[in-house]
Amino acid sequence: MKIILPPFRLERYFAKHEFSAPYLLCSSDCESMALQDLLAFEPGAQEQFLGLRLGYTETPGNPALRQAIATLYEHVAADQVLVHAGAEEAIFNFMNVALQSCDHVVVHSPFYQSLGEVARSLGAQVTEWRGDPARAWELDLGVLEKSLTARTKVVVVNFPHNPTGFLPSPKFVSELSALSEHHGFVILSDEVYRGLELDPADRLPAMADVNPRAVSLGVMSKTYGLAGLRIGWTATRDRRLHRQLATFKDYTTLCNSAPSEFLATLALHHADAIAGRNLAIIRDNLDRLDAFFGSHKDRFGWYRPKAGSIAFPALLKGAVNTFCAGLIAETGVLLLPGTLYGKGYRAFRVGYGRRNLPDALARFEEYMTR
Ligand SMILES: Cc1ncc(COP(=O)(O)O)c(C=O)c1O
Repeated sequence: MKIILPPFRLERYFAKHEFSAPYLLCSSDCESMALQDLLAFEPGAQEQFLGLRLGYTETPGNPALRQAIATLYEHVAADQVLVHAGAEEAIFNFMNVALQSCDHVVVHSPFYQSLGEVARSLGAQVTEWRGDPARAWELDLGVLEKSLTARTKVVVVNFPHNPTGFLPSPKFVSELSALSEHHGFVILSDEVYRGLELDPADRLPAMADVNPRAVSLGVMSKTYGLAGLRIGWTATRDRRLHRQLATFKDYTTLCNSAPSEFLATLALHHADAIAGRNLAIIRDNLDRLDAFFGSHKDRFGWYRPKAGSIAFPALLKGAVNTFCAGLIAETGVLLLPGTLYGKGYRAFRVGYGRRNLPDALARFEEYMTR
């Protein structure tokens, strides 16, 4: 059977604008850095990088990298980590390994399209578990319970959430884990924005630490701003699932890029410093966004997320597609219309992990006061 995947709306939108729009105000990844700046984190790193051999690499991932990734977890060991080409490959492979066409999947919504679309393309039935926009996109576990069926195989969650920034409480996470134990579904927990909590006390335990069958998804792209490395991973204590993922990966990327693995390892040895730099940018940008949206309360519904690098404010008047198209045409400022996440979202994604947000916001402000 041929898998038919519809266009990835958000990625097609970025393909059109990302490298031509002068002011990206909807990027989900944090500020990146030059190769030389990353290498400067450790004496001797540049020489080691230049001496790197470019043969095949170990298929599960470089052992030093898997070790560095394992330090992000409490109970996950290096051999329970599988390195992939970004989180995107991990999502695709997980769905292919975990699902059959008769299965049912529940997805935290709105969702980054691949989190639901790959399951749908495999013939699984997908039910959306919607956050409540009136309560800063909070999820209700009672709603999840009602949508579970005997065929529910996987529940997909994404905390901190793309696009809303929603972050639940640790109690919510343990209750979700208990539901998984009771009903037997596997939790795919997309944690690619983990580490970007404004208050470190709000950081949730990784789902793979809490639940022995859950899969936690991580990546270098967002918190660390190193999307160009294309290094992501799965972490799970379920040995069978881990083995199945490793076996499937032999048919996708097989093994990872040696330079990227070296650089990701180096970055993770300095994870706190890099995430700390990005959090400082985020804090400053959020203060500016508070002020901007505070002076346009009649046009936008704003809330300040507790974590992540993106938010999903409401547009109170007019159509969101027209609004975003007018803004880019007249000012070069790119927002992401909520309709790319599905019909009926009268909101837009704003990204605040980049250094040039003040410039973009100044142009946005000028447009609003015209
Ligand atoms: C929630 C979520 N999961 C996965 C991904 C994919 O990450 P990557 O492009 O680094 O593979 C993204 C990227 O935007 C995302 O927002």
